[in-house]
Amino acid sequence: MKTIGILTSGGDAPGMNAAIRAVVRSAIYYGCKVYGINRGYKGLLEEDLMEMNLSSVGDIIHRGGTMLKSSRCEEFKTEEGRKLGVKVLKKYGIDCLVVIGGDGSFNGAKKLSEMGFPAIGIPGTIDNDLEYTDYTIGFDTAMNTVIDAIGKIRDTSSSHERVNIVEVMGRNCGDLALYAGIAGGAETIIVPEVDVKLDEIALRLKTTQKRGKRHSIIVMAEGVEKVGSASDLKKVLTEQAGADVRVTVLGHVQRGGSPTAFDRILASRFGYRAVELLLEGKSSRVVGIKDNKIIDLDIQEALAMPKTFNRELYEMAKVLSI
Ligand code: F6P
Repeated sequence: MKTIGILTSGGDAPGMNAAIRAVVRSAIYYGCKVYGINRGYKGLLEEDLMEMNLSSVGDIIHRGGTMLKSSRCEEFKTEEGRKLGVKVLKKYGIDCLVVIGGDGSFNGAKKLSEMGFPAIGIPGTIDNDLEYTDYTIGFDTAMNTVIDAIGKIRDTSSSHERVNIVEVMGRNCGDLALYAGIAGGAETIIVPEVDVKLDEIALRLKTTQKRGKRHSIIVMAEGVEKVGSASDLKKVLTEQAGADVRVTVLGHVQRGGSPTAFDRILASRFGYRAVELLLEGKSSRVVGIKDNKIIDLDIQEALAMPKTFNRELYEMAKVLSI
């Protein structure tokens, strides 16, 4: 009988609970014991863990956040920290670990695997910044949260004939801005992957104003350092296009909320497959989805893949928003 440990780490994402539920239920179904580790790697080092049963994960599939809590742990980035982690895992008879999180969390899992401790990663982050998988858990819910916010901002933007800049999360990845911008009908989408000048955006705004467009939504990814900040853009648009501009930073509202059906199903499929992999004796793998098929590949390989950007969609968005 295997004993599986499970933790969530890094920024939380809606759907993590559904993944925990899938891992715990699948593992118990196949006769394994499961330990839930609280507060990610930090909780592991502090021996903050408990055995889980079928009802520990009852009534959580629809809840945002993570019932296991999450954290970012500096100590686990050190060799001593990881040695202590393995010691704790062994003390509780845990033979393999499921890590739900983003690239930072996967790095921890990779290091554990290199130390001979089997680990499997499940991608959970609203950023969708992992190349090997089409979707990460939480991205769809966050995108819908942004669309909902854009819809509300659009109402007041239209009433006041303003330009509204909506800053969205995503770290260095523009996926959230791109997809939410398209679905929300944004006039302009600014992402870290595409270089644009603030002057160009002002010029574009002036052109659309001349055509009679009285209000405008600009979706800006938080990682667009090269372009400038939302307040830099506000200044340029005010000065060069005479626009009345407001900025909304959506912030952590994007990380919460009940997961969409898409995220719940994705998380359930990932969790189930992660347990299957462990039972097949595989480790140092991450699960993902490509063309609606659940896939798995080596953690190192997955982490080494540079994230690409869907330039085709970006160009389409520009055409649709003239
Ligand atoms: O990685 C998820 C994410 O929400 C990013 O989009 C954002 O840059 C970051 O985490 C914020 O981190 P924190 O919650 O630690 O402020």
